[in-house]
Amino acid sequence: MSTTVGLSLRNSLPTTGDQPTHPRLLEWLDKVVELCRPDAIHYCDGSDEEWDSLVDLLVAAGTVQRLNEDRKPNSIYARTDPDDVARVEDSTFICSVDERDAGPTNNWMAPAEMKRVMTQLYDGCMVGRTMYVMPFCMGHLDAKDPKFGVEVSDSAYVALSMRIMTRMGAEVLRVMEETGADFVPCLHSVGMPLSDGQPDVAWPCNSTKYIVHFPEERMIWSYGSGYGGNSLLGKKCYALRIASAMARDEGWLAEHMLILKLISPTGREYHIAAAFPSACGKTNLAMLQPTVPGWRVETLGDDIAWMRFGEDGRLYATNPETGFFGVAPGTGAATNPNAMAAIDRGNSIFTNVALTPDGDVWWEGMTKEKPAVLTDWKGRTWRAESGPEGGRPDETAAHPNSRFCTPIDQCPILSPDYDNPEGVPIDAIIFGGRRENTVPLVTQSRDWRHGVFMGATCSSESTAAAKGAVGVLRRDPMAMLPFIGYHVADYVQHWLNLGAKADADKLPKIFYVNWFRRDSSGRFMWPGFGENSRVLKWVAERVDGLVDAVETPIGLLPTDDGLDVDGLDISADDLHDVVRYQPQEWRDEVPRIGRWFDTFGWRLPRDLVDELRQLESALGQP
Ligand code: GDP
Ligand code: PGA
Ligand code: MN
Ligand code: MN
Repeated sequence: MSTTVGLSLRNSLPTTGDQPTHPRLLEWLDKVVELCRPDAIHYCDGSDEEWDSLVDLLVAAGTVQRLNEDRKPNSIYARTDPDDVARVEDSTFICSVDERDAGPTNNWMAPAEMKRVMTQLYDGCMVGRTMYVMPFCMGHLDAKDPKFGVEVSDSAYVALSMRIMTRMGAEVLRVMEETGADFVPCLHSVGMPLSDGQPDVAWPCNSTKYIVHFPEERMIWSYGSGYGGNSLLGKKCYALRIASAMARDEGWLAEHMLILKLISPTGREYHIAAAFPSACGKTNLAMLQPTVPGWRVETLGDDIAWMRFGEDGRLYATNPETGFFGVAPGTGAATNPNAMAAIDRGNSIFTNVALTPDGDVWWEGMTKEKPAVLTDWKGRTWRAESGPEGGRPDETAAHPNSRFCTPIDQCPILSPDYDNPEGVPIDAIIFGGRRENTVPLVTQSRDWRHGVFMGATCSSESTAAAKGAVGVLRRDPMAMLPFIGYHVADYVQHWLNLGAKADADKLPKIFYVNWFRRDSSGRFMWPGFGENSRVLKWVAERVDGLVDAVETPIGLLPTDDGLDVDGLDISADDLHDVVRYQPQEWRDEVPRIGRWFDTFGWRLPRDLVDELRQLESALGQP
């Protein structure tokens, strides 16, 4: 050991947990300690005892409360600052060396400039707080090329959440040290130092927020927010933004996708990966309970898929996470019984949901009947008939982006293949979004290139998962708009290149779905949830070539009797409107796609232009 380590400020601080020996880690920690100046350091081991002591600490600080042990064992409840409830896309940056590499869809600042700005913010930002050091691994520890990270954070809520969402702690550090593995440094601070004697607040954060990625350096700096997507840096920041840049360089895909196994009545297994924007149905589809008799679903992942080609030429997917960070509202026994069963087993963190008088959680859509009295996500008494005290009667009790954070192994239908570091071979990829019109229930692409076009032109109405207006239509390529760590045109080109290099017969078939078409009164025409199994069945039958499809300008649609609608509660008119496409809506869509492609600049892949021309001419004139 060099003498500087012995003299470091880090070594003079009160410390709990086992000190690492990893040289690069120690070097980085020394720098962080000198800059952020925490009062103490805790090296996380990921144990149950650690969980208990951090919960005690957060309870004492007023950040969380324990839930009723009989209802939600070993679970806690947190209310955030009302201004710290979602991802902050306006404050999210890709600080590539060259601005052009961040592309038109990301915020950019020169790395040196951003480091200057953030170094000032980080200066003393952990005074009065404990710094938690969390070694973690995204994906399996025994993967061929395990992807390590170390998050340093001044939030115990983050440490608890990281323990659920990632492989985190002593075992990971041991492997890192034994193999001398490199790691992605992930620095997080809530940005609220405490000067001597200054009382803490329940949810410390800062109105200045930065979520910053240095893709070349493979480094993440986050400041000012405690909300999951901004602070659990293994998730969106690493497993999507940084990993997408790694994947580009290494020839694989890091995607915003669920992974599921669909099992037919005869036992044939299909593996499906599906990309929908945040709060557009991934977690629900991943845990689907099919309404079609004899079909079953097993869950492999609900938010992120890492996909690589195997030696057999097929595309294999793994889920790098170990937990669900799911949208609470809308999750109930009727829509997602498997998620309800998972959270009822406890060991979970609930954020910004409502509390029942007996210390359990509740949110809109959990039950048909609203409880008469609740405490809402802002801590106010809330009544079913009059809303929150001092608020508007129509205010929901839970925040629309309130979340449950639950270990994945509590999911009753978790696939045994979840534990396989090689992953599962993907038969079908589904893209989707939230569109009240234009996009039909399900469309199959003609081939990979057309499928990439579908993904690249995917669009969706914005949701509460990100700060900003809700319901605004935007393009969201492969549901990755907020998560691509480089230039969007290069990202789509990467998809095209992988397909061009692969054996076309072995590539997954690509589909485009929309569960969210509405009628003129604003009602969803498709019942969704478990009924989406009818679409999955069609997808499976198309993969095996068992059913015909109708060729249209926008792709392959189900024939009149293609979808299994046996026993489905839907009017013939609604079904027709949901499944069919209207040429005029698509003629209107073409210029919108054109304008979207214009933003790509000269890097726009030729193949996309060709696909758009083909669509336009196939649609013809009215
Ligand atoms: P994720 O953020 O992509 O994982 O989306 P979730 O599965 O958590 O769902 C987000 C919201 O959309 C929740 O309120 C769900 O109840 C709702 N949702 C999910 N699937 C469907 C569906 O098939 N139809 C309708 N109408 N809503 C859905
Ligand atoms: P979601 O995950 O996709 O389940 O909403 C969180 C997010 O994307 O912000
Ligand atoms: Mn997500
Ligand atoms: Mn989800």
